[in-house]
This record gives sequence, C-alpha cells and structure tokens, in this order.
Amino acid sequence: MFVSIESLSFKYPGSKECVLDNLDMEIAKGEVLAILGESGSGKSTILRILAGLEEPECGIIRADGQTIVSDRVFTEPEKRGMGMVFQDYALFPHMTVEQNIIFGMGKIARKEKKSRLDELIHMVRMKGYEKRYPHELSGGQQQRVALARAMAPRPKLMLLDEPFSSLDANLQSSIRADVKDILSNSGITSVFVTHDKQDALSIADRVIVVEKGRIVRNGRPRDILAV
Ligand SMILES: Nc1ncnc2c1ncn2[C@@H]1O[C@H](COP(=O)(O)OP(=O)(O)OP(=O)(O)O)[C@@H](O)[C@H]1O
Ligand SMILES: [Mg+2]
Repeated sequence: MFVSIESLSFKYPGSKECVLDNLDMEIAKGEVLAILGESGSGKSTILRILAGLEEPECGIIRADGQTIVSDRVFTEPEKRGMGMVFQDYALFPHMTVEQNIIFGMGKIARKEKKSRLDELIHMVRMKGYEKRYPHELSGGQQQRVALARAMAPRPKLMLLDEPFSSLDANLQSSIRADVKDILSNSGITSVFVTHDKQDALSIADRVIVVEKGRIVRNGRPRDILAV
C-alpha cells in the first residue's frame, strides 16, 4: 500500500497544544519505515491517525490512490486494511495461540482458515505451540503470535507501536531479526514506531525523526543514525 500524508495537524480534545503540526510524509509500497523520536513527540499519535483511531483537525491522507481522510472523508478503521501491533501485544489470555490467530482472520471460509493458520504459524516459527496459552509463552513468542494475529487478515499496511519495548535486551535483538524477516518476506508496507536507534537501524529501509510533532530528519537509517 502506498500512503501519503499531507499537511496533517492534530490536537487532542481539550488540549491547547498541537501534537502534530503540518506534517507531510509518504510511505512507499513495500517499504519499512521507522518513526523515531523522544517520548511525547507524537509518534503513537501518527499511527493512531493512520489507523483511524483519531480524526485530525486538518490534513489529507491517501492510501492506494484513495482519500481516506480529508475535511469531507473519514474511512472507518475496519475498512482501511491496516493491521496494528501495540507495545503490550495484548493477546487474549483465555485463547490459545491458534485461537488468537484465527480470531485475527475475521470472517473467512473454514477451509481457508486452516491453511492460512499453518502459513502464519510457520511464518512466525511457532509450530508445536498452537495449543499453548499466552502465559505459557516467552515475551518474544507472544510478540510473534501478536504479529501473526495482526497479519492474519492480510492487511495492506502494518502499524507497529514500540513492539519490542517490553522485552529484555536479549530477546529484543532476536525478535528484531525475526520481525525484519517476516516483514520483508511478506513485502508488506510497514510503519513502526520506536525511540530506539538500534531498532530503526536494524529493521527500517528509511527513518523519519520526529520532534515535537514535526519531522526534523528523513532518510536512510545509516545516514541519519550514524554515530
Ligand atoms: N488521549 C490524550 N489526550 C491528551 N493528550 C494526549 C493524549 N494522548 C497523548 N497525548 C499527548 O500528546 C503528545 C504526543 O503523544 P504520543 O502518545 O503521540 O507520544 P509518543 O511519541 O508516542 O510518546 P512515547 O514514546 O512516550 O510513547 C504527548 O504530549 C501526550 O502527552
Ligand atoms: Mg507512544
């Protein structure tokens, strides 16, 4: 999915300050884009607006040639074909790995469900864990199941909000490699938010650095984040 954001401004209701100030951004089809910035810079807000969880004051968002947000248009979140993974991965605790992933598929034919499930389990390397409950998995495994659940309905754009922040350092580096492989093998356009330079360096094709709701840098990770 190709996405363009034009002159996007946003304020939370009741707050005086603009969280996003006249933001422009493009995301190429198949690209993995990292949004990097300090706490409070507006990173999650950008994802929430893309997902349709917030409506901006002004600005235009286009996805795959269609306007999904403008002063006259607002496409409902479930019609946007976007998948989201949050930092706390929030699997359903009373559902097994397989039930969590099947839940993500939504309404599809039963025959197709089984083959899609196998494909997703294979993708996130969770074969043999289908019947386990989330509390019987490591943090990295839970994170991979959350990714499989979000990818189950074949979203055209994946939004990942600090997906590694609750993992310890060892797990972070292995899951980074996993997620990079999963995203690039699937060719899916992805935007992920982080405040960790290493995340951006190891996963992203391009990095946007946000400060106080404005883009201050935009380019290749190794150019922007070189030390
Ligand atoms: N529901 C809300 N109501 C009012 N203000 C909010 C709300 N959510 C976030 N904000 C404010 O908007 C600004 C941007 O928040 P946002 O969550 O986008 O930051 P962030 O870059 O994701 O930060 P972090 O790295 O801590 O997750 C912050 O100043 C925050 O306090
Ligand atoms: Mg955030």
